[in-house]
Amino acid sequence: MDDAALVIEDGAVAWTGPAANAPAADEVVDADGRAVLPGFVDSHAHLVFGGERSAEFVARMAGRPYRAGGILTTVRATRAADDGTLRANLARLAAEMLAQGTTTFECKSGYGLTVRDEARSLALAAEVTAEVTYLGAHVVAPEFANDVSAYVDLVCGEMLRACAPHARWVDVFCEDGAFGAAEAAAILAAGQAAGLSARVHANQLGPGPGVRVAAAAGAAAADHCTYLTNADVDAIVSAGMVATLLPGAEFSTRHPYPEARRLLDAGATVALATDCNPGSSFTSSMPFCIALAVREMRMTTEEAVWSATAGGARALRRSDIGQLTPGSRADLILLDAPSHAYLAYRPGVPLITAVWQAGCLV
Ligand code: NIG
Ligand code: FE
Repeated sequence: MDDAALVIEDGAVAWTGPAANAPAADEVVDADGRAVLPGFVDSHAHLVFGGERSAEFVARMAGRPYRAGGILTTVRATRAADDGTLRANLARLAAEMLAQGTTTFECKSGYGLTVRDEARSLALAAEVTAEVTYLGAHVVAPEFANDVSAYVDLVCGEMLRACAPHARWVDVFCEDGAFGAAEAAAILAAGQAAGLSARVHANQLGPGPGVRVAAAAGAAAADHCTYLTNADVDAIVSAGMVATLLPGAEFSTRHPYPEARRLLDAGATVALATDCNPGSSFTSSMPFCIALAVREMRMTTEEAVWSATAGGARALRRSDIGQLTPGSRADLILLDAPSHAYLAYRPGVPLITAVWQAGCLV
């Protein structure tokens, strides 16, 4: 809307419409011709970890391929880190996100891979977000390299019992080098039986069964979706599952970008998220992902901003965020720019000039 106004009351949007019709308010902020958008909803991030992997990134840029095995480097560092170190790293990343306009983010475990380290990762995540995801099935823990089914039993049993109280979601990395279709289905079913809802890392590094496993489980979202068959696209659309695209990962691993147009043109709901993690995508910036989606994935600027806000909300099955309509939580951002298009038109420029969360300027 041009020349729009919005009224906030008790942390929620109370009214939107033409500025000329705006009701009186106790306090008025003049956006001065600049764009106001819903805060970004980052529905996929791995923020509880120790250490960093810049050497792996440098080697990759020099031609070495990305392999899921790098995850174990972070597992070692995470296990060795004390709670204070993990909490401080998490707080720094959460602050980065907020400064870049993200007002809701999801956060996974997955770098602990022991009962103790997964449970404490989730307890730490729950300190900073309500969207907490149990990813004990990120990769097989190194102690179980020769007995994958014993690790799956742990993930579905004792580890799940310790983790479920801290989490809302269960996730599994269904990929060669991580978990196969039957294992992934069993892990999602166990999580659901413990009261968690499913989301899946699917079809990131090559074609595979992840999307179909996610659809069969009734997952809210299949994330990555970089290598899809026509049957996968059909499964996403007919299951009404959100396809969450994570272009920061393709940027940092030099994989081809996911085919957003193919999904959108088939009628899929698409979300954009950062996948912020120290290995495959160490960005916390939704504006960066929007710019990639527009430039590299041929999403329109409107589609990209929708996917980074309302799309993320749908991926988290949330109806209170990701939009600015009466009744929504008043999570909004002010751009130092006249339109949403500047997020892609001015890549890399910090345009987020103010952020409100539940109506409070933060
Ligand atoms: O979403 N796909 C699996 N997990 C992360 C990568 C994690 C890592 O490299 O540390 C991802 O890309
Ligand atoms: Fe991920």
